[in-house]
Amino acid sequence: MERRQFLQYAGSSIAAIALVQCTRAAKHQRPSPPLVSVDGALTVDLTATEQTVTLAGRSAQLLTYNGQMPGPLWEVQAGDTLAVNFTNGLTQPTNLHFHGLHIPPTDRADNVFVSVPSGEQFRYEFAIAPTHPGGLFWYHPHHHGLVAAQLAGGLAGPLIVRGAVDAIPEIQAASEEILVLQDFDLTWRGQRREPTPIFRRWGRQGDLITVNGDRAPGLTIPQRGLLRLRLLNASPSRIYRLRLENHPWHLIGMDGSTLAAPLALDDLILAPGNRADVLVAGDREPGAYTLMSLPYDRGISDMMAAMEDDAAPSVDAATGAIAQLQYGDATTEVPLPQTLLTSPELPTPSRRREFVLDHGIDGDQAFLINGRGFAHDRVDTTVQLGTVEEWHIVNKAGMDHPFHLHTNAFQIVRRNGQPVPTPMWQDVVNIPAYESVDLLVPFNDFAGKTVYHCHILDHEDQGMMGIIEMQAASTHRATQQSMI
Ligand code: C2O
Ligand code: CU
Ligand code: CU
Repeated sequence: MERRQFLQYAGSSIAAIALVQCTRAAKHQRPSPPLVSVDGALTVDLTATEQTVTLAGRSAQLLTYNGQMPGPLWEVQAGDTLAVNFTNGLTQPTNLHFHGLHIPPTDRADNVFVSVPSGEQFRYEFAIAPTHPGGLFWYHPHHHGLVAAQLAGGLAGPLIVRGAVDAIPEIQAASEEILVLQDFDLTWRGQRREPTPIFRRWGRQGDLITVNGDRAPGLTIPQRGLLRLRLLNASPSRIYRLRLENHPWHLIGMDGSTLAAPLALDDLILAPGNRADVLVAGDREPGAYTLMSLPYDRGISDMMAAMEDDAAPSVDAATGAIAQLQYGDATTEVPLPQTLLTSPELPTPSRRREFVLDHGIDGDQAFLINGRGFAHDRVDTTVQLGTVEEWHIVNKAGMDHPFHLHTNAFQIVRRNGQPVPTPMWQDVVNIPAYESVDLLVPFNDFAGKTVYHCHILDHEDQGMMGIIEMQAASTHRATQQSMI
């Protein structure tokens, strides 16, 4: 069944040639001015506010970072230190999470247990290791119970780390576009709609799909050159199925990782939180090509079926153009790179754990991991640094759940017990209804507590999250020594 595959590779051919001529001006994700270095840290000011902004050509009352939709794009190099002077101008508490970054989960780094009350400030500051993978990451709120509503209000921003992948000559020569996908559920006055109970269970979706705060921006494929598209699903719960009509495209990386070689793509499934790094080679008939969003059926939960609600979310609302790609002027030829980056083999895992995703009773414990809803004062999983674990994640529910782990990326090795053809490194993996995945997770550095959860953020807010504590070997030794 089609929807049971996370990514679909080329194989099915798309026959009809229907070129959409497009004259729409490009709307690019505005890069922030180059980040300023203050006392050795690239320093940015970030304020969350509720305000009226222009979204897809109309006015909307949204939650913004610095009044921009999406939030400002930050670009750093592996090896840089980033400092974010954050101000909470909202009427409720919030905080920041640096999704996908391999940095400590403690103190002023990626600490999601921080709460910044309304009107207060917090300074985040962390070093990104010189060996950090280059990739597209993002920042968004992570205040348990408020996450879905704050993301649905628009709070999300992209963060690029330049690393080894960016030094590959063909990639260096490519032109680059960052596409931040968000969906909104707004009234005709541009006010955010409260989700109905059924949408809270399903995960709220809006029928206004925007890319960089606009609808279907125009992008240029350099003729004979390469266009590097970097997509981020910053929607609170929508799973996108994307297709570049009548034109080949190639996956070169997922989330914060890079593949060993480009992989021809057919449909690209992007769950909330996922990023895809894609190359489009301008080696076809020059013209215009549409990047389409197609329906993705993420399953109907038993709960929803029981509600016999005729207002069940429609999967068709998503259909439409995400971007219009147009060939530009001929450039000097840049071929697709043959090879990209290889990742070292992982040692044999030292232990295997199982995580069962399921639904429970209503209320704040409607979504469960291993039979339990989230509790902020309970450690659910304890791991030792310096080990690799194998995690078996089983979705026992009748709807998809995208599983996400903070701090450490994982390698997907099996789906439903079968080895995957290309074991990719990701930090969010979608698990369709009644399916399972096996992941290898290395825990090398960064002791402390953080979380894993479903990235359909309504599910996270309603319990589908657990706390993991990563213990340094030295803690272990210290206890042993004190016993002597
Ligand atoms: Cu983007 Cu804990 O999430
Ligand atoms: Cu995250
Ligand atoms: Cu979920």
